[in-house]
Amino acid sequence: MDTKLLSCGIPASGLPESYVRPESERPRLSELLEYENVPVIDLGCEDKSHIVQQIYVACMNYGFFQVINHGVPKEAVERMLRVARDFFGLPEEEKMKLYSDDPRKTTRLSTSFNVKKEKVHNWRDYLRLHCHPLHKYVPEWPSNPPSFKETVSDYCVQVRELGFRLRELISESLGLQKDYINNVLGEQGQHMAVNYYPPCPEPGLTYGLPAHTDPNALTILLQDLQVAGLQVLKDGKWLAVNPHPEAFVVNIGDQLQALSNGRYKSVWHRAIVNSDKARMSIASFFCPQDHALISPAKPLTEEGCGAVYRDFTYAEYYDTFWSRNLDQEHCLELFKN
Ligand code: OGA
Ligand code: NI
Repeated sequence: MDTKLLSCGIPASGLPESYVRPESERPRLSELLEYENVPVIDLGCEDKSHIVQQIYVACMNYGFFQVINHGVPKEAVERMLRVARDFFGLPEEEKMKLYSDDPRKTTRLSTSFNVKKEKVHNWRDYLRLHCHPLHKYVPEWPSNPPSFKETVSDYCVQVRELGFRLRELISESLGLQKDYINNVLGEQGQHMAVNYYPPCPEPGLTYGLPAHTDPNALTILLQDLQVAGLQVLKDGKWLAVNPHPEAFVVNIGDQLQALSNGRYKSVWHRAIVNSDKARMSIASFFCPQDHALISPAKPLTEEGCGAVYRDFTYAEYYDTFWSRNLDQEHCLELFKN
C-alpha cells in the first residue's frame, strides 16, 4: 500500500479497502458497557493507604485507572497538546522528512501500526520518540514547531516523575517493597507515541488502533480533552474511557503482568475513530532496561500457583512483540511456563 500519512490528506473516495476489517472484527460501536467507568484516583489524598487500596482494586478489576492531582502542571499538559497538534498540522514535505516504517528507528513518524507486517491498516498517524536519556535523543527530535524540543522534554521529565511514584504505589498494592518494581526495571526506558486519528469516513469499519495490550511495564496516557475514543475490555465487553479534563489514564503493561505473576492484567484496549473530529492522544511508555530480567516476584509465587511465566529479558520480549501483528493473541502467552 501507499504509505502516505493520513494527516497529509485523506482519500476523497471514502474508506480505502486496505482499512476495512472483515465483518467479524469490526468495532460494533453501539455495543458498549454502560453505567461503568474506569476508576478515578485522587493522588492528592492524604491517606496513602487509601490510595494504595484504590490502586489494588483498579488493577485487579480493570488494569486501568485515571489519576487526578497527579503533580504534572496543567500548563505542561496544555503546551504538550498544543505542540502535538501543531506538529501534525505541518506541511507534508516537513513531516515526510521524519517518515519511516522501521520500528527500530528511535525517532520516526509513521502511520497505522506496522505497515510492512499487517494485513489491514489502522486509521492513525503517530510520531514515536525515545525520551530517555533526553540528551541522547532530543537532538534527533523534530525541530519544527520551534518549541517542540523544549515543550516535549519538559513534559517527559514531569511524566517520568509521576511514573516512578505510580510504580511505588503499585508495588505496595501488591504487598511488595515500595522500590521493588523500580529496582527490577532498572534504568528505565521511556518512549512516547503522539497519536493522531483524523476524522474517518467509515468509523464502523475500522480502528484507530485495534485491540492490543501494551508490551512495556506501565503506560501513562494523555487523552484528547474533548474527543473520546479509548475503550477498555472489561468482562468481555468494551468500556469507553471518556475524557476527564484533569486526568491521565494509567495502564498496566505486559511486564507488570509478568512481574505480578499474572495477578494484575495487561488489559486489551483499543482506539476507535469518529467521522467528525480529529483526536489526539499522547502515550508515555515506561519500559524495563533491555537486559532487565523479568521474573514473577517471589512472594507472589508462593501461594500454590508457582511462577506463571518463565524468566525473560525485556530485549527478548520486545523483539517478539514487534515481529508480530498488533491484533494477535496476547504476546505474554508465548512466555508461559
Ligand atoms: C497506545 C494506545 C490509545 C489511545 O498508544 O498504545 O493504546 O487512546 N493508545 O490513543
Ligand atoms: Ni496501548
